[in-house]
Formats: sequence, structure tokens, C-alpha cells
Amino acid sequence: MCGIVGYIGFREAYPILVKGLRRLEYRGYDSAGVALINHDNKLSVLKTKGRVQDLENYAKDKDTTGTIGIAHTRWATHGEPSNANAHPHYSQSENLALIHNGIIENYAVIKAELIDKGYTFHSSTDTEVLVQLIEYIKKINNCDLFTAVQLALNQVVGAYAIAIIEKGNPDNIIAARKSSPLIIGIGEGEYFLGSDASPIVEYTNKVIYLDDEEIAILSRNKDPKIVTISNIEKTPEIKELEMNLSQLERGGYPHFMLKEIFEQPETLRSCMSGRINVEGTNVTLSGIIDHKDKFINARRILIIACGTSWHAGLIGEYLFEEFCRIPVEVEYASEFRYRHPVIYSDDIVIAISQSGETADSLAAIELARKAGAFVYGVCNVVGSSIPRNTDSGSYTHCGHEIGVASTKAFTAQVTVLTMMALAIAKEKQTIEEAKYLEIIKELQHIPDKIQKILDLNDKIKELSLIFTYAQNFIYLGRGYNYPIALEGALKLKEISYIHAEGYPAAEMKHGPIALIDNEMPVVTIATHNTIYEKVVSNMKEIKARKGRIIAIITEGDETIKAFADHYIEIPSTVECLDPLLSSIPMQLLAYHIAVNKNRDVDMPRNLAKSVTVE
Ligand code: G6P
Repeated sequence: MCGIVGYIGFREAYPILVKGLRRLEYRGYDSAGVALINHDNKLSVLKTKGRVQDLENYAKDKDTTGTIGIAHTRWATHGEPSNANAHPHYSQSENLALIHNGIIENYAVIKAELIDKGYTFHSSTDTEVLVQLIEYIKKINNCDLFTAVQLALNQVVGAYAIAIIEKGNPDNIIAARKSSPLIIGIGEGEYFLGSDASPIVEYTNKVIYLDDEEIAILSRNKDPKIVTISNIEKTPEIKELEMNLSQLERGGYPHFMLKEIFEQPETLRSCMSGRINVEGTNVTLSGIIDHKDKFINARRILIIACGTSWHAGLIGEYLFEEFCRIPVEVEYASEFRYRHPVIYSDDIVIAISQSGETADSLAAIELARKAGAFVYGVCNVVGSSIPRNTDSGSYTHCGHEIGVASTKAFTAQVTVLTMMALAIAKEKQTIEEAKYLEIIKELQHIPDKIQKILDLNDKIKELSLIFTYAQNFIYLGRGYNYPIALEGALKLKEISYIHAEGYPAAEMKHGPIALIDNEMPVVTIATHNTIYEKVVSNMKEIKARKGRIIAIITEGDETIKAFADHYIEIPSTVECLDPLLSSIPMQLLAYHIAVNKNRDVDMPRNLAKSVTVE
């Protein structure tokens, strides 16, 4: 979703801003722009529809001097992707330039009032309304920029992360946030701004995470000042960043997605490290230990998430019900927040989110906390909003994920949920010791088994060529592999734009089987587990209708090899860990089909990595 970069200091701002925009490209966007106070004190805005490269081409012969500036990548919400709707937006007098992530919900009313007062608008955005409102307030109150921003933010309803600069005021950037992340990087005599840490990390590891309704005043050669919109001064809390620069580079891979798929043996080791003891006999998650009574006495677990994280949540449902004997409901955060859900104070709500910034998940958390439930976050981005708004949690520790289609974050989420289920089940004494030990032992073998599947990359690439021109795909699985069928279909849709549906295999005969003919590829996960025979029967039903089966099977399964059109063999494991292995061929198959179709794998059309608007 939209990205923000800002700089004030002693260096030329433009190269830093453009590099920062490139670091944010992974989030998905449709236009880009910068505003600079040039060396001659002019305020210039340069912006264009398209990629950061288009902005650079456009700016080539323009004045890009100046040591203060703000920059933005836009993901259209109000108004189509166009030059006019791109940020930054000028105010009427062109004395102010503003960038904004989020949505101003009451923009239409404010716009109408400003039009009555003689303001004219050049875009269809809610952002232009905000910058005009700030200018209007500044004019009628004859106040400074900070006060005008503070007064304006008291009038707006909605979500924002903003940064604003003013002509003739080359020493200040004013920035503010509500429900949309904003980070300040603190250098020596310079400040950086970012909607996440990626544009900041190569300059400093000291950061301030702005909280909701806080406004930051970043002044040249002065300490940062933070004041809330209700005028309470806050002491800035400086934290250390955990991200490093190498995580932001492709390291020889053609795409971030492939790099991230191949990183999984390592990311899962890091996810388990310090949590499983050296003897391999115990799982400890401090977030659970510190609140173990809550988990032991939980009436129910509600899992809330969006997208791929929701699929991880479905696997969590199988794990918590099987091992902890706690009833589980898995909800899309966007539905949960608006459907007047019943939430008990002895419910545990688990919010799963890679970015920790998903707007719907944050709103669902707020609802759960108001109802008195205990909220546990499973997030990847350290210091993001969800970990800061939950009672406890576990990080997935898989490093920065850049590919829009989530891969390593998903397997790390599933690993954390598995460790949670084991830790809770042990406390509740709902798991037999032998089973507990067996799963922990097997978990530690998972990275090596994933490596074995990654070694099949060339075979999967070859297989992908056969199916590149398919119009539709069906993905089937049952039990723990059912969520992987959904996730496999989502991966393919996201990056190849091929229509794909995931189903529980036995559900086929209730409708979807009508779609089967000799042109329909059906990816079926049929590993050796308790419902293996049933899945084999479901596959025979597909085969009888001439569907083309691509089977994900346990190594050495001669039965399925004999009738499947194609197969990928994966190592055997305990049933509850199947998803950690079966998800890997799904990721590789989607990746190669998308590459064959020449798709923009890391930045698929219309998608955003971090969805900070509802
Ligand atoms: C977007 C991303 C998906 C992600 C979903 C949830 O749609 O493109 O990859 O699964 O958001 O994001 P979260 O950060 O909450 O896991």
C-alpha cells in the first residue's frame, strides 16, 4: 500500500528519497512523487503515474536540489492512478506540500466547505482536501504549520500517516499518524521518515515509532518533538531496529519471492531458535508462559487475520482443537469487525499478521480488547502496530518479507502456531508426552525436509511449463492440507492472474466437480495421513472425469504415481506438520507459472504488501 519517505539534514535529499521509494516498491503502488524545498527556497513537487523509474525520468531535467523533502508511492483509493492524483499534493497557494497514507473518511464534507470558501481542487483525492484544510486553518488562525496541522487533525475522521513541508520553512518537517504506521529514523544531525523501516535501515538503526494521534516536529539541528493532537507533549522513546540491509536485497535471486522461498529452511530454524531447547524435549514461548492461566482457562480461541495469514489461522484451528481441546473459530478480520460478534472475557483472540499493520486486523483487535478478551499477536515485523496493541504475542522472526505474495512469513506463522499449540497442550495436559516429544523432534527436521523439496525446483519448473496456459486451476486437500489447498490457489491467483479455487477434496462432488474436464488441472495434496485413502477416492472421482491431476504425494507412493498425470514427492512427516512441507511445492509451482507468463512476481498488479486501509 502507499509508502512514505522523508528526509531533513545536511545531505541532498532527492537521492535519499528516491532510494527510499525503491525500498518501498515491494508494497505495491501505481504512482510516485517527491516534494523538495530547493536550494533557492522554492517548494517544488514532482510526481507522475507509474513506477519510481518513471518519476526519475520525469525529474531528470528538473530542479531536485535541497536538503529537505518528502516522497510517496501511491496505491489508489480515492481516484484512479493518474498524475493529478499522485502525491505530494500542493495547497491552493502552493505554499504547502503533503503526502498521506490512509483514508480521510469525512473528506467530502470538508471539501464542500472549502469549495464554498473559494478553494479549487485538482485531484479526486482525500489527501488534497487535508492539505487545503491545513492551509485554510493556518490562514484564518494566523498560526504556525504545527498548530495548523494539529487543529486540522482534530477535524478529520479516518486514518492517516502524513508528512508536510512548507515553502520558506526549510528547517521543519511535520509528520503525524493515526492507524497508519510512521517511523522516524534518528541520524547524526539528520532525520529520516518511513512508512516502514526499509527506507531508513541503511542510515541508522535508531528509530521512534510514532503512536496514534501523535505529531512529530522534525527540526534541523534540534531534538525531535512529539505532541499529541490534544496537545500533550510526549517524551520520544528511541528504539533499536532489528532489520538489516541484506534482507532488503535480492542476493543473486531473480525475484525476492524466490529468495524468500529458498530462505525457508533458515527462517524456520530462526523461528524455532531459543524456543525449542537443545535436547529437543521442550517448547517455551514466553508470551504463553507469562499468561499460562489465561490459556489454561480459555473458553474459546478466536483467530483473526486476512489473506495468507488467515490460511495460517485455519491450520491453527486444526492444531488447537486437536492438541489443546479448545474450541476455535477462525475469522476474516474484515468480517469480524462489523458483524457484532459475541466475544467473552475469557476468550483468547489470536491476531495473525505478517506486517502487523493490516487495518482490518487492528480494528478487530480493538473490538476484542473492548470486550475484555486477552489478545495475542503473531506477527513478523518487530515494533509494528499489532504487537504494540496486543496483550502478549510471539514474533515469527523470519526476516523482512518483500515479495507481495507471502511465503516464508506463512510457514513461520504455522511454525509459531504449532509451538503455541504444543506449549498450551502441555500446560493443559491435553497431549500425551510421547506425541509431544514426537512433534518437537519432527519440527526440528522440517528445515532439512524443506531443503529436500527445494532441491526439486528444476522439476517443478519443468512441470510449470505444461500448465502455463491453463485458464483455471483447482486445488484440493483435506484435514491439515485443506488450508494449503486454499493457500496454493491464492498464491497462483496473486502472481500469475490465473483463476484458481481451493476446496476441501470431498466437497468437490457438491458442485465444483461440474467444472472438471480434460483441460482442468487439479492440484491435489495427498500425503500419507489418516485420511489418505479418502483423498485417493476423491482423486479417482476427478480422474474418472478426465481432470489432469498434479499430485503432491509422500515419497515412494506408488499407488498415486500409477494414476496421477504428474506428481511431486515430498518427505513424510507427522500429520500436523504436513502443511509446512506441502506448502513449498505450491509456492514453487505458482512462482514458475507466473515467471513463464512474464508477470511482475514481486509486485503483482493491484496488490499491496501491507494493507493499511480497510
Ligand atoms: C495483503 C498481502 C497478503 C497478506 C495480507 C494480510 O493482502 O498481499 O500477502 O497475506 O495482506 O497481511 P498481514 O500483513 O496482516 O499478514
